[in-house]
Amino acid sequence: MGLDQAGRLLAWYDAHGRDLPWRVKGHATGARQEPYFVWLSEIMLQQTTVAAVRDYFRNFVALWPTVEALAAAELDDVLRAWAGLGYYARARNLHACARAVVDRHGGRFPAEIDALLALPGIGPYTAAAIAAIAFDQPHAAVDGNVERVISRYYCIEEPLPDSKPLIRARAQSLVPLRRAGDFAQAMMDLGATLCTPKSPNCLICPWTEDCVARARGIAAELPRKAAKKPVPTRRGHAYWITRPDGAVLLRRRPEKGLLGGMMEVPSGDWAAKLPDAAFPFPANWRKTAGKVTHTFTHFHLELTVWVAELDEVSLAGARWVGREQLHTEALPTVMRKVVAHALGEG
Ligand code: ADE
Repeated sequence: MGLDQAGRLLAWYDAHGRDLPWRVKGHATGARQEPYFVWLSEIMLQQTTVAAVRDYFRNFVALWPTVEALAAAELDDVLRAWAGLGYYARARNLHACARAVVDRHGGRFPAEIDALLALPGIGPYTAAAIAAIAFDQPHAAVDGNVERVISRYYCIEEPLPDSKPLIRARAQSLVPLRRAGDFAQAMMDLGATLCTPKSPNCLICPWTEDCVARARGIAAELPRKAAKKPVPTRRGHAYWITRPDGAVLLRRRPEKGLLGGMMEVPSGDWAAKLPDAAFPFPANWRKTAGKVTHTFTHFHLELTVWVAELDEVSLAGARWVGREQLHTEALPTVMRKVVAHALGEG
């Protein structure tokens, strides 16, 4: 008897699934994936690529090898280690979740979806991924990669996001009772490596024979997406303040709001129309050429960077950081760009 759909995908996964630092392959040995690693990698992978996450994951587990160790860490140290991954509320939730797992569950991740959903930072996708990958429960974990695979396999032409419920139902109907965790990871790998957005490699896909979109010659066109609203641009100023010894004045952002609790090169409000510069104190301010640009989920940001050198000043919430220490600060990517821009100015 030939293999069924799930069997074909699992055979492909055994041969071609990716080696990832949080992943245990080789189901024949009965090895299970450590729930802490599964959870940590899934939180890191939200809205980010595997390539961006590998080193962060390795660093986190070297610093905090267990959920207990992470729960005992200072939030500041966690934010620092997270800096550069983006979406900093996730790092706060990560820390809160580690504490909740220790407090509520004695340091062991629960296997049930409802208990997982009750933890900070765990939504339906992540709960399903943990239940499947760490505990082999038959749940479909549907991320963007899996949406693409399913839309093509069943030739779902209705655009996203309206097609989500149908995609979810179809994905769930494929989940096998055995090796559900490997199946979830195989779907993700198929989407990431063969069933790619622009030019799917259908020739070597384990599902090529039954893929309806491929048969109709429209695989690369799916999933269709409803037109997005244009992304607005916001503008603002950042103030690069140095001391004669080279130290730089950095400030902690308020806990609430975007980049909450992260460090910044002091900056003013951001608005559609460039606000007037509001210098934190009088100085010989010089405007640098060009702008620093960064794209967040819902808007583009353009920062004009001003520089001044001062002997000693104080600014609420700010402190001096030595030039060599800059890389150890919890500076989000946009602020790292500001640092690079200012240092490039010489
Ligand atoms: N993307 C999100 N989670 C993943 C996982 N566990 N393996 C591969 N890619 C992923």
